[in-house]
Amino acid sequence: MSEFQVRLPDSDREHFGRRPLLATHTLHEQELFSDAALSELLDAFPRQHLYAMTMGGDLTRPDEIRLALHDDVSGSELLRAVKNGRLWLNVTRVDRVDARYRRLIDTLYEQLAAQVPGFAPTGSQGTLLISSPRAFVYYHADGAASALWHLRGCKRIWIYPALDTRYASREFIEDIFAGVRHEYLPYQHAFDERAVCYELRPGQWVTWPQNAPHRVTNLDSFNVSLSTEYFTAATQRRQRVYMANRFFRTKLGVRNLSADETGVVAAAKTLTHRVAYRCGLDRVQYRSHVPALRVDADAPNGVVALVGTDHSALSQ
Ligand SMILES: [Fe+2]
Repeated sequence: MSEFQVRLPDSDREHFGRRPLLATHTLHEQELFSDAALSELLDAFPRQHLYAMTMGGDLTRPDEIRLALHDDVSGSELLRAVKNGRLWLNVTRVDRVDARYRRLIDTLYEQLAAQVPGFAPTGSQGTLLISSPRAFVYYHADGAASALWHLRGCKRIWIYPALDTRYASREFIEDIFAGVRHEYLPYQHAFDERAVCYELRPGQWVTWPQNAPHRVTNLDSFNVSLSTEYFTAATQRRQRVYMANRFFRTKLGVRNLSADETGVVAAAKTLTHRVAYRCGLDRVQYRSHVPALRVDADAPNGVVALVGTDHSALSQ
């Protein structure tokens, strides 16, 4: 792998993780993201970790997401379906499967850590996103702290205030941390008045505060981006507090507990939750999608219906 650069302007470094930031990189110059390399990656990729999804036309209707099967579709056919259809491929945890991505993500966080005072990630992971012209990702929040490295095509991202209950209730964020609901959140167009919007081109990356809701819409081009998540002592502390609060809410009916992430109360809650979890008292049912379609590069939207399904999109 050739050298690449991650650049964050001096004036933005103290704001990393605290506000939305747009900066530059040279990752997109890597051969790793050409059609030939992507096709090879998809051919070899464990298909149970590759998700193909379509979306509806209404930003407020994430229930219109459909999962498409692709077990007999080659990498080059998958790319053709994405280019001609309206699909989104999530190549999840690509760093776990391909050592080149592991090295790449390690290198980019080493470069960031060298530039951002006090930034000491304890871990990172990545998912490659390959998506159709005009595809979009519904309004949602992720549990982990994230960054998006844009590689091919052009897209817009809207980022909304983090941990503001007008944009995402605390209970939703607790459930997202616990993995019991999909990341999608109720969306209103009026939210956009408070959003930061960036148009992303290859060679740009964007990051935002942990749990800030966001949504993405591709412009008229085939898009490739790398989504990375990083972990620090602070991001892990937040996860522990939100999961503990969820435990007390759902198992003991105690609501509106403080979301303070430090102090004696936070420590007592997270310790209690850890013990309860180890005793099997906080078993959760993880959510997943149910397949309703099959990828077909020759079909109008790149997918055909599976015969004999009820087309339900999001399992409960
Ligand atoms: Fe996200």
